[in-house]
Amino acid sequence: MAHKFAELGADVAICGRTEKKLIDASEKLRQHGSKIHWYAVDVRDYDAVGEMFNKIINDFGSITGLVNNAAGNFLCASEDLTPGGFKSIVDIVLFGSFNCTHHFGNYLIKQKKKGNILNIVTTYAEDAGSAFVLPSACGKAGVLAMTRSLAYEWGTYEIRVNAIAPGPFPTEGAWTRLFPSKKFEKKYLEKIPSARYGDQEELANLAAFLMSDMAPYITGECVTIDGGEKLSGGQFNFIDSVMSRSKLKMAFKLLKLKK
Ligand code: HXC
Repeated sequence: MAHKFAELGADVAICGRTEKKLIDASEKLRQHGSKIHWYAVDVRDYDAVGEMFNKIINDFGSITGLVNNAAGNFLCASEDLTPGGFKSIVDIVLFGSFNCTHHFGNYLIKQKKKGNILNIVTTYAEDAGSAFVLPSACGKAGVLAMTRSLAYEWGTYEIRVNAIAPGPFPTEGAWTRLFPSKKFEKKYLEKIPSARYGDQEELANLAAFLMSDMAPYITGECVTIDGGEKLSGGQFNFIDSVMSRSKLKMAFKLLKLKK
């Protein structure tokens, strides 16, 4: 997403916990020619996030957009979770997003500037939730509630708040944590009607659109980008997996003839 923003001419500030990763990423981002700065911060620390925003405003002169993308997740049977494990994820996902949003929103409101916020959630933030990722499901559901609550409350200040719910977009960090073996990955693919994982460029394009001046009237929206995976719960969707499409069509014809 940062690459796409920079490629389109935006100055970009990136933040994360690990200095080395930030330095490497900044070097790559600078190839696009816009101004890039990095800030080492743990989004769980409200005061440190506040200091980071002060530095960003000092370095760039102003700030117009925020993407809350920091997340944490692990697979765990919920009965085996410790309170510390639950807290660790909810602190990153929900409190981290709140901390950044609260500082950024206050800056915009005090400076009478318009701006926009994009929260990266998940497809399981609403509807079914998800087994084995309880802290993430709870944290992301909170971020989605924050998206819609603030979109209304801060609409009067011309602050837009939207969300993206990505399906599976392979990254090393997420994949090594979420798929214990290739077998899981293969099974997962069967749920996706487009039979492929997402391409990072597709996610970046959507983020750029929502962050841009091309979407000034969109707020409070959560856009799903998952190749149709979220629809896999449709009541009769499963019959496609019982036999091939051509055999199914023959079976449908037989059913019709029987009437
Ligand atoms: C059970 C676990 C655990 C695991 C940690 N804990 N990993 N419990 N199973 N696999 C527990 C610890 O025992 C501890 O509990 C508590 O969580 C805090 O652990 P720390 O290691 O001290 O936490 P911390 O250093 O804050 O690390 C945070 C982390 C870590 C999230 C746990 O994994 C991390 O930094 N991850 C990097 C970010 C990340 O996960 N990215 C992937 C996001 S993918 P006690 O009881 O001892 O306190 C994503 C996409 C989803 O979100 C979409 C899927 C398709």
